[in-house]
Amino acid sequence: METTMRKPVALITGANGEIGHGLLEYFHKKGDHNLVALDLNPMDKQLRPLCHAWMTGDILDDDLTERLVTEYEIHAIYHLAALLSTRAEFAPETAHHVNVNGTLKLIKLATEQARWHGNRVKFLFPSSIAAYGLPDVETKTKVGRIRENDWNFPITMYGCNKLACEHLGRYYTFNYRQTAAKWTSSGVDFRAIRFPGLISAVTLPTGGTSDFAPEMIHAAAQGQPYACFVSERARIPFMVMPDGIKALISLAEAPEDRLTQRVYNVGAFSPTAGEVRDYVLKAFPKADITFDPDPARARIVDTWPADVDDSPARNDWDWQPDYDAQRAFNEYLVPTISRYYKEHPDRK
Ligand code: SER
Repeated sequence: METTMRKPVALITGANGEIGHGLLEYFHKKGDHNLVALDLNPMDKQLRPLCHAWMTGDILDDDLTERLVTEYEIHAIYHLAALLSTRAEFAPETAHHVNVNGTLKLIKLATEQARWHGNRVKFLFPSSIAAYGLPDVETKTKVGRIRENDWNFPITMYGCNKLACEHLGRYYTFNYRQTAAKWTSSGVDFRAIRFPGLISAVTLPTGGTSDFAPEMIHAAAQGQPYACFVSERARIPFMVMPDGIKALISLAEAPEDRLTQRVYNVGAFSPTAGEVRDYVLKAFPKADITFDPDPARARIVDTWPADVDDSPARNDWDWQPDYDAQRAFNEYLVPTISRYYKEHPDRK
């Protein structure tokens, strides 16, 4: 029977990326397949059966998004597509276009969808510790764990973009068209997490500045030498992907009346690059790891916080990581990575 009903779905952009992998697997385990995945590159073959449909294309392509809304009724958006921090420095204006204009376009799409189907659209956004900017290592060391509203002076285009998108999300949630004679809500329910560096056992990031930790671990598991692009003493917070997915889902599911803010820090562990090397050496004693800092990338890491204060997330939606550094290495990273490269020798 021909039907004019559009299928209700959640949209995941950048679905082929690291968080997308984790999120699609989470929904698959939960038995929820009402997902449309969008990415610049064709979806990974293993991920295709996990979603209702997948589309290849640019979020900025109007034809693509129009095609999307003719077929689907969108109730939630996990907007993961972005150019990461190191890559963004090679083409800052392009990064702004993709990271900010792309987000604005999708938030607007969310308001239109809410008007169509009459329900609010949840908009989940992965922000980043890159939204912070400490002026120097002395200050970074002195202030230690920082709160969401402190030190919002990013030095990267990516950090500026994340901060801008957080503001846009709050604006659309609370103040959109505030001068209208008869004010109505935009219908967007924006929620963001400022992620620390994320480490997955099954994927590698591309173009980020926290990539040194995952690169070091994956190189060791593959028996390849690794020269780390920051110094041994560089410290930023990290989190393994299962906790990253848990954080995103917990925030998505949190009752709105418990949210005291729209942008949340989440922490797990905060090692120096030298400590990451020590954990890796314990698991892979033959690993060949050296330090050869790249001044520009090392400087970026020096402006990111040594650790974050995540008490609002703990109070508002009961955030608690499952993995500290020890458990992350012993129970997730080392066994999963070792198994992964045994099963996928072609990925070496
Ligand atoms: N992992 C990101 C990057 O390094 C930071 O959010 O760009």
